[in-house]
Amino acid sequence: MDQTAQLTDNVRVAEQYATTDNLRTRRDVWGPGPEGVSPVDILRTLVVAGQHRRVLEIGCGTGQFARSVLDVSPDTDYLATDLSPAMVAATHALGVAALTTPADALPFDDGAFDGAVAAWMLYHVPDLDPALGEVRRVLRDGGAFYVATNGREHLADLLREAGGAPLVTQFTSEVAADVLGRHFAAVSQRDIETRATFPDHASAQAYLATFAPHLAAALPPFEGPRTYAGHTAVLTAR
Ligand SMILES: C[S@@+](CC[C@H](N)C(=O)[O-])C[C@H]1O[C@@H](n2cnc3c(N)ncnc32)[C@H](O)[C@@H]1O
Repeated sequence: MDQTAQLTDNVRVAEQYATTDNLRTRRDVWGPGPEGVSPVDILRTLVVAGQHRRVLEIGCGTGQFARSVLDVSPDTDYLATDLSPAMVAATHALGVAALTTPADALPFDDGAFDGAVAAWMLYHVPDLDPALGEVRRVLRDGGAFYVATNGREHLADLLREAGGAPLVTQFTSEVAADVLGRHFAAVSQRDIETRATFPDHASAQAYLATFAPHLAAALPPFEGPRTYAGHTAVLTAR
């Protein structure tokens, strides 16, 4: 299935994140894979180790990542942003400075930040180059951009069981380094396998319904819990 067909078929991005419910439903099922490490923990370790003075996050969702960085590194001047006012309100409620803005029109001066974060959001941005150009512009020279995304086979077994196809976006782990390389001189990547555990069929359906209701309806019944592999990557671009 090509991406245009997927976008038509799946719940649109603004609709999907109009409230925080879908994101919370999806987040709760994920745990570490065979290596025993979580990509969120790896991402946070990288951001904190950067010892940045001013950090911008784009597509911050409910703000949990921002909050967790500030808990470890309270002196960081951290600004979380998102397209969705509901996400920005949830982030603000965690005591994190937050602003509603699209990633491709950042209302900040050139070089205003020395660190930037985009966690599981660039695959939602249809035209990536303007957004990446904006991140590059607001980062000072030598600043670091920390990114997390999913691979083509992320949760693909569940999608296939429901009669769907893997979600191949314009920013999978397989192409992310090349895409970032169009705007940044150096990119490093770590691939991490994760696990999604669904206690029952209804919870797997609830997950699918957050972005593909037709697949939720088509998922054949199963008994008991099921675990599926997730494939993610954490990248640093400078
Ligand atoms: C999958 S969620 C990830 C949220 C958070 N980073 C996390 O890891 O939990 C994607 C987020 O990106 C936001 N988003 C999607 N497109 C965006 C855009 N063009 N500009 C800014 N935010 C966007 C959505 O509103 C949503 O909150």
